[in-house]
Amino acid sequence: MYEYSHGGDIYSVRKQTGRDDILDYSSNVNPLGLPEAVKRAVLQSLDECVNYPDPFCRELIAALAEYENVDHTVILAANGAAEIIFRLVLALKPQKALLFAPTFSDYEKALHTVDCSIDYYSLLEANHFSVTEAILNQINNSVDMLFICNPNNPTGQLCSKELMLKIIAKCRTTGTIVVVDECFMDFVENSAQYSVQSALKQNDHMLILKAFTKIFAMPGFRLGYVLTANMALLEKIRMAGQDWSVSAPAQFAGICALQDKDYLRRTEILIKDEREFLIRELKHLGFQVFGSRANYIFFKTAVTNLAAKMLEKGIMIRSCANYINLSNAFYRIAVKNHEDNLRLIAAFRDVINDESHHGHY
Ligand SMILES: Cc1ncc(COP(=O)(O)O)c(C=O)c1O
Repeated sequence: MYEYSHGGDIYSVRKQTGRDDILDYSSNVNPLGLPEAVKRAVLQSLDECVNYPDPFCRELIAALAEYENVDHTVILAANGAAEIIFRLVLALKPQKALLFAPTFSDYEKALHTVDCSIDYYSLLEANHFSVTEAILNQINNSVDMLFICNPNNPTGQLCSKELMLKIIAKCRTTGTIVVVDECFMDFVENSAQYSVQSALKQNDHMLILKAFTKIFAMPGFRLGYVLTANMALLEKIRMAGQDWSVSAPAQFAGICALQDKDYLRRTEILIKDEREFLIRELKHLGFQVFGSRANYIFFKTAVTNLAAKMLEKGIMIRSCANYINLSNAFYRIAVKNHEDNLRLIAAFRDVINDESHHGHY
């Protein structure tokens, strides 16, 4: 039977617990919530819903070109970054792919749809789950496609631009399509030092995935996009799905979100302060934290069944037990606002106190 393997399934949890006050730390979206101007714009866009949405997302693409500082021809918008992953795989039908282990699970899910065989580059706890030059040895002529999530989900580690460029250069020599998932890059401080966007023009075997989902807190709208200088490839991705995958409200929401520069500034400050706060508190609680650079934190603990125990306190956290190379000792939490973070830390403390009273920890 199909098992949903991501965080954020508040619907099952509400049904299971009968509570509607659940705090969701299992999916990583901007704690500032949907920008106010987006809500207003979307209400106004409802009248447009009697028409099909613009299949070329013209206004949205123009706004994105300005935001990303690229030519509009290199962008294709879709129904979330996840849709791009599936379309790309369907369009190219790779026979062999290389994935990080652990990483975001939809790469593998998409690759399975075309019976692609998968090699793994193991991210090791001994290296704090960071990418090393050893990955270069695993890229060879037989690898058709490589997915790199930077910063990686769920580990939160960033790969240096220097190494990213070496990987991209190696992929050029082996004829490997390299997909760089930068869906969390907008949360990284000084992201230009890490993003490989500047290498796009010279590398038409490369794509960059981005999403509105996380940075503008709009997973429910479904809006993502891909950047590539490879026009033929972009066309193939376009052909591998329906023309109306980006709804009219999603297009309006995206255009409007990009205008809110203050929202992005406030996000940067909030995430930086609250991530530091949470990391400090988690360490105090005795958890082993793997210093994340994104809007989520990855840690290890000896407390057993932590996710279930936190759910009893009304808080969802992401157990990482279903990731390759991880176990039920690993968890991921989002970075949220201070009030919620205080509630989270208090709940962790309660769980640990309960354990020590019962002699389990
Ligand atoms: C690394 C990564 N890429 C892509 C996605 C999919 O994003 P979207 O909701 O825009 O489809 C996710 C969602 O969790 C993710 O973590």
